Amino acid sequence: MITNDLAALYRSEFPLFEKLTYVNSCSHGALANSVKAAFGTYISTLEEKGSAWNDWVTQQEILRKLIAQFLSAKSEEIAITTSASAGVNALATALNFSGKRNKIITTNNEFPTMGQIWHAQESRGAKVVHIPSNADLTVDTQSLINAIDEETLLVAIAHVCYRNGVRTDIQPIIEAAHKMGALVVLDAYQSVGSLSLNVNEINADFIVGGLQKYMLAVPGVGFMYARQSTTSALIPTVTGWFAAEDIFAMKIDSYQPAQHARRFENGTPNVAPLYPATAALEFMLKVGILNIEKYVAEIHSEIRDGITKIGGKVVTPANPEYHGSLLAVASKDEHAHVAALEEIGIVTSCRDGNVRISPHFYNNQDDVKKVIDGFTKTSALLRT
Ligand SMILES: Cc1ncc(COP(=O)(O)O)c(C=O)c1O
Repeated sequence: MITNDLAALYRSEFPLFEKLTYVNSCSHGALANSVKAAFGTYISTLEEKGSAWNDWVTQQEILRKLIAQFLSAKSEEIAITTSASAGVNALATALNFSGKRNKIITTNNEFPTMGQIWHAQESRGAKVVHIPSNADLTVDTQSLINAIDEETLLVAIAHVCYRNGVRTDIQPIIEAAHKMGALVVLDAYQSVGSLSLNVNEINADFIVGGLQKYMLAVPGVGFMYARQSTTSALIPTVTGWFAAEDIFAMKIDSYQPAQHARRFENGTPNVAPLYPATAALEFMLKVGILNIEKYVAEIHSEIRDGITKIGGKVVTPANPEYHGSLLAVASKDEHAHVAALEEIGIVTSCRDGNVRISPHFYNNQDDVKKVIDGFTKTSALLRT
């Protein structure tokens, strides 16, 4: 039974639910009225001022502050990027793989970006080690910890896996990496906005994510948290004037990167999405991430019970410590399954033999019922 019904409070802000049963926040969040209105604020700057650089740069700083507040970080520890990949790429260019410490330890539960970017560094001397997952799809934490040695420069791990919803027990991994003198980058894209994240408790050196999924914003804005005490010596070689200590010094004859996280940015920000992203962050802060985490866990568990009752197989671990919002249901033909659900108004997505259901705080009991009914109607496609 739902205890603190967030959907009852906020669902009317999301017109999408008048038309669809939308449970695909792992791909893109539903559009809130305030986020939609914020696009208009950007358009107004164009209509009223033409070139509104002061407004745009100010908007970026407002967003930086809100992201910092959301993650319990300091503003100067947040780089605003155009994607999660952009942050990780900037970090990769700041690392030196020519010495003894040249190993990147990663897992098989990563989004492709996190494999591809590190493999791209092989031409610069990086050695990438993938730790295979356990049979239940969880990360083999002990093997990962055992693999971290004195040659390890960086451990690159995802918090929640985009494919199967597995949440990794990140704390012992981060501790082990630091004990060995290695850095950690955490890909939090599938957890930010659905699980509470406090950078001081997590203690990773870098945390990357984007704002278009559980954070309710739109494509084109991401973030990278960079922990000052361990990252201030790293100088990216992919850079630009917005990464400079003084953006408007307009110096062409030297390179003075910003002291803190902003050094991982580069050229002109993606200005238009800064506005909806700001409205989205304000919305998320109003709802409260602790409320969201609790509510989403209840909805997740109701959907899981319903799918299991009709004979479906949820491949995401049942232990609440090993999953986030996303639950993955085994399917004989995941693309046909998503299409069949869409025909009856239920929006999901799929990866790797599974249909992904990813509820958020705007999903209610009626959605849960419709999702279970939808999987019952399409039960011929369930892989049991
Ligand atoms: C876990 C995870 N990491 C990274 C990405 C990619 O992010 P971007 O396209 O912003 O680089 C995604 C996108 O779905 C994701 O789910």
